[in-house]
Amino acid sequence: MKVLVVGSGGREHALCWKIRQSPLVKTLYCAPGNPGISKHAECVDIKVSDIEGLLRFARAEEIGLTVVGPEFPLSLGIADRFAEEGLAVFGPTRAASEIETSKVFSKNLMRKYGIPTAFFSAFADFEEAVEWVKEVKPPLVIKADGLASGKGVFICRTETEAVEVLDDIMRRKIFGDSGDRVVIEEFLSGEEASFFAVTDGTNVLPLESCQDHKALLDGDQGPNTGGMGAYSPAPVITPELTQEIMRLIIIPTVKALKEEGREYKGVLYAGLMIEGGQARVLEYNCRFGDPETQPLMMRMNSDIVPVLSAVAGKGLSVEKVEWKDAASVCVVLASKGYPGDYKRGAPITGLDIVEGMENVVAFHSGTSAGNGGIVTDGGRVLGITALGGTIPEAINLAYQAVGKVNCDSLCYRTDIGKKALRHVLLTGPQGSLKNKES
Ligand SMILES: Nc1ncnc2c1ncn2[C@@H]1O[C@H](COP(=O)(O)OP(=O)(O)O)[C@@H](O)[C@H]1O
Ligand SMILES: [Mg+2]
Repeated sequence: MKVLVVGSGGREHALCWKIRQSPLVKTLYCAPGNPGISKHAECVDIKVSDIEGLLRFARAEEIGLTVVGPEFPLSLGIADRFAEEGLAVFGPTRAASEIETSKVFSKNLMRKYGIPTAFFSAFADFEEAVEWVKEVKPPLVIKADGLASGKGVFICRTETEAVEVLDDIMRRKIFGDSGDRVVIEEFLSGEEASFFAVTDGTNVLPLESCQDHKALLDGDQGPNTGGMGAYSPAPVITPELTQEIMRLIIIPTVKALKEEGREYKGVLYAGLMIEGGQARVLEYNCRFGDPETQPLMMRMNSDIVPVLSAVAGKGLSVEKVEWKDAASVCVVLASKGYPGDYKRGAPITGLDIVEGMENVVAFHSGTSAGNGGIVTDGGRVLGITALGGTIPEAINLAYQAVGKVNCDSLCYRTDIGKKALRHVLLTGPQGSLKNKES
């Protein structure tokens, strides 16, 4: 079979790395890809937003399965167009992907179907939103309705701050149309985790839990980023909690979308807040997480292609996905200055040493091929990902590998995975990190 992966980040590198291992795949393409991906796939120079270009390519090459990485092409309706042309595609339709692209839609859906989430109100009118802020007590969370590159959520500690944020989003339109409406919700405390499941719209197959590290600096300080690292499994999600998340959140969400006439096919990502052994939904994403996919793919034992193909085609019949009896940790190396301005084009050396290490993969997110070798070309540049018997072993190995990478333009967090250790200490040396099968 010929497979096409759409995207160019660490997530797509991890997907290509995993898909390439499948004996079912004859040729693997990635559009547009990156220099790391080019080791596993033939990179094709088509932008993720060029839906008709991707379609022409898929038709000409007789692609048997297209896997969409990022949310943007999904929001443009790539899955709808491919399906119209009879091409198998992994990813939800435009209407189903609104679960990510409209926070008002997803919150209303959760309210209607009784899915646990923070209490909220939605507003299209600035004055009404301000009035509501004055009625309820901070802390509260204000979210722009539409896509905002992970920058559209504000935790407001005071009324003044909240009104300023509303002004920025709804009147000054700092996120454009994405700020036509806002969600104002209750602040939830607890520990965050991400949960992934694949679904064909009816059958649901849980994958694994992960935890990412959004803040730029150690100790969760500094501004939020696309993610500075991740580990899997997330021990805060115990096997019992997994069952509850499936029963109360994932399955009801898939059913709800079907009932709304927006049947969901693809991977459903629930961002959760866990407190007192209970999970509530912070948000949904309509695609694999980045960087979470990097540790996730390294832990997956089963061939991923039959799962992706089944979702895109005849429907899921795979009963479970096998996972390695191991933990995985991904440390993101980012350009200094990110998430603000940063320079590009700084040479990176030492990647060959990392590539020679066992149980380590250097996934590329923002690199390009310069004259003399690989250079930086993005905010998040590399995801150095390691597999170990336990989280502490995976942490050690990942940071050993990070130490081999040379580039004066990169920075990283030194505490990725530390949160998990709290649970390890609570549950014994290996605790719930031991083999989990979904
Ligand atoms: N109700 C809430 N209570 C506490 N923190 C929240 C709440 N909603 C969001 N957050 C924090 O803000 C981050 C971003 O919010 P999220 O809804 O995931 O939006 P996005 O990923 O689109 O920016 C979350 O990862 C979480 O840390
Ligand atoms: Mg989020």
